[in-house]
Amino acid sequence: MTALNVVVGVAGGIAAYKACHLVRNFTESGANVRVVPTPNALEFVGAATFEALSGNPVDTGVFTRVDEVQHVRVGQEADLVVIAPATADLLARLAVGRADDLLTATVLVATCPVVVAPAMHTEMWRNPATQANVAALRSRGITVLEPASGRLTGADSGPGRLLEPDQIADLARTVLETGPIRRSLEGRRVLISAGGTQENIDPVRYIGNRSSGRQGFALGEIAAQRGADVSIVAGDTDALPTPAGAEIVRVRSAREMQREIDARLGSADIVVMAAAVADYRPEKEATAKLKKGEADANLSTLRLVENPDILKGVVEKRNAQQTRAVIAGFAAETDNPLEYGRAKLARKGADLLMVNSVAGGRVFGERRNSGWILGRDGSETEVADGSKLAVAAQILDAAEGVLGRSLPN
Ligand code: CTP
Repeated sequence: MTALNVVVGVAGGIAAYKACHLVRNFTESGANVRVVPTPNALEFVGAATFEALSGNPVDTGVFTRVDEVQHVRVGQEADLVVIAPATADLLARLAVGRADDLLTATVLVATCPVVVAPAMHTEMWRNPATQANVAALRSRGITVLEPASGRLTGADSGPGRLLEPDQIADLARTVLETGPIRRSLEGRRVLISAGGTQENIDPVRYIGNRSSGRQGFALGEIAAQRGADVSIVAGDTDALPTPAGAEIVRVRSAREMQREIDARLGSADIVVMAAAVADYRPEKEATAKLKKGEADANLSTLRLVENPDILKGVVEKRNAQQTRAVIAGFAAETDNPLEYGRAKLARKGADLLMVNSVAGGRVFGERRNSGWILGRDGSETEVADGSKLAVAAQILDAAEGVLGRSLPN
């Protein structure tokens, strides 16, 4: 198999240092990386760093290595162009089709997917000039990612922060797999439960499970990049980056998760319950650590009581017209996934159910997933093995389909 040719474009912003990790991410996955900085990017990170990390020469202008016609060749050979960070100035130059340095010339020549990760101060990002440039680029099939919200250079905070390098790399791979990210959820609210709940036994022990939260965060990632306002109510998860602009509500127990989901249900357009909720919790949570062998510690026979079924509760609220949201659930099954999945969909009353087989510990904590999306209307769509972001895109496609049929725009 020939290596993927990735061009990493870097513009002149302080976040240019994060491009080093992005280059590393791609080289470690076996890609051949060519870094093309703007001249200003080299004010932040030296060419030597990019050359050492990529193992390839680094040029900024169209007048170096003229004999090799670089400004045409680099773009022609690329399978993927990822620009991170993209400044307001670079977005403007791309939007009008300038070719005044090697990076803009490369983008003009490239016919492969182009993914742009902006980074700038909030005012510059929100400026109508920048937004018009972003809209122009998106209309041409270029994926301009929503920036993260958070700490910017200096004391400022807000949207405009560069997404984490691994997030950018994963989203760029998803664009390669599934095409440019559509802005199909602008103005919509997507509410997601993710990760495992923890049910306390005492201050140091709990009942938990092996959910990593990756599928839930992947759903948040795609929904946010499609333009939705995203809230993720997250139990125990791996350390995962926050999807662009998403609200992350950290909870521990099923009951806390239910409270936070319910509080956001009224305004949600799509609810996806990807959390692995503990079905039972200890009847009593001890306030002090239970001691082995103490008469009333009961550590050998823990009495459990049933937790609320959050998904079922959401469906009941929809039936009582307290929300109009399209509701999707998950089913992780070790045996007969389709048969059990169909029965679970009927029992829970959701619109959609993503069924996956977790036999032998598969899926938990992994970066890939597969299975079937079952619809209340009897539909059954096979989801081929793909990254959790690619699977998230298909689940959201199905939810958007139901939304389109049930709601006026
Ligand atoms: N779920 C929930 N609240 C619970 C249990 C499950 O919201 N107390 C949701 C999960 O987030 C998932 C779906 O219901 O979207 C199915 O979860 P699963 O654990 O497979 O279902 P159970 O009803 O617990 O069925 P099983 O008997 O197979 O454990």
